[in-house]
Amino acid sequence: MNRRDVLSYAIGGFLGSLSRGTQATSPFDYSVFKPLGELARKRKIFYGAAVSSKQLKDPVFTSALLKECRCIVAEYESKRYSLEPKQGQYDFSAMDYLAQFARNNGLMFRGHTLVWYAGNPAWLDTMLINRPAEPLLTNYIQTVVQRYAGVVRSWDVVNEAVNPLDGHQDGLRNSLWLSGLGRRYIDLAFQVAHESDPKAQLVYNDYNTEGVWKHGDRWRYATLKLLEGMKKRNVPVHSFGLQAHLEPIGKPIDERVLYAFLREIKDLGLRIQVTEMDVRNNSPLLTAQQRDQQAAETVRKFLDIVLSLAVTDEVVTWGLSDRYSWLNKSNKNSTSEFVSSPLPLDAEMMRKPMWRSIASAFSEADHHID
Ligand code: XIL
Repeated sequence: MNRRDVLSYAIGGFLGSLSRGTQATSPFDYSVFKPLGELARKRKIFYGAAVSSKQLKDPVFTSALLKECRCIVAEYESKRYSLEPKQGQYDFSAMDYLAQFARNNGLMFRGHTLVWYAGNPAWLDTMLINRPAEPLLTNYIQTVVQRYAGVVRSWDVVNEAVNPLDGHQDGLRNSLWLSGLGRRYIDLAFQVAHESDPKAQLVYNDYNTEGVWKHGDRWRYATLKLLEGMKKRNVPVHSFGLQAHLEPIGKPIDERVLYAFLREIKDLGLRIQVTEMDVRNNSPLLTAQQRDQQAAETVRKFLDIVLSLAVTDEVVTWGLSDRYSWLNKSNKNSTSEFVSSPLPLDAEMMRKPMWRSIASAFSEADHHID
């Protein structure tokens, strides 16, 4: 089957299963189609999802998660506001819970994120004005990375450091770290993370580079320049993390643009991970089925390009089921709780066309990690 056939089969099968109203004959049935984690494993890729300890109290969700996923990452419980709510007073309880859950279930565990302009406790801003900034960055990284050394396989060390619209020549984003330490904060964070766990895979993670939109080229250029500089300076950065919050309408995927960009990243000697994939599409002009189909097509286009470069060993969606997605929660204009359909499983844990796209991309990718 070529790609088009697979997709129409997937969508036809899905709709067919709905009209028949029986799960047993559905091609989305767990006994017929293997879970994403297993399909990805054949390509030496970990597939998984962002979760929270609260979501893991939902047995229906957790059972789907354990079927589909081989890795988890904390959606927010490993951000600094959660880990260091008061200066020097750490609270590892939620992250430890997730680490233990991963361990008990044989799942790989990712870390997200050490250094970010957002997700910080309120005290940090004030401290950074009054005290030397460097120890506030380095002590935190040491404490957290050392604690989870051997437990976290890959860390998003710096998140979203680029924003060309902030007006700096190098395209860096305004942040408490840029004001406190200057642009060296990025190199420093990676160096300290590497010293704290030499075996961890260290990821620079960002968004806005996947699709075509008004400032997409500037964003891609600034990201490339940042990574190129880091490699030249021998900074221990191992991967680029594509967040992949995809937007089929506002930021459609152009295969050539994406490939050219990722090819340059690969040529720098970096791996390319997919760290937060979901699809934002609330267009009132489309039916729910059309939105699902568009999400499936977008994801397939995107993953086909990424996997064709053969330097990906982690693919993570930002959640697994529409029951728990940051995009639904934040949809203030919605009258329906699940108007958005960003993830591979619907709110009832049924596989959607997007699930089928990911499954097909894993199954067909000619992908070998060296
Ligand atoms: C989001 C979480 O999903 C929300 O629950 C939280 O309130 C805000 O952050 N890019 C990132 C993630 O790197 O950390 C963000 O996660 C989504 C965008």
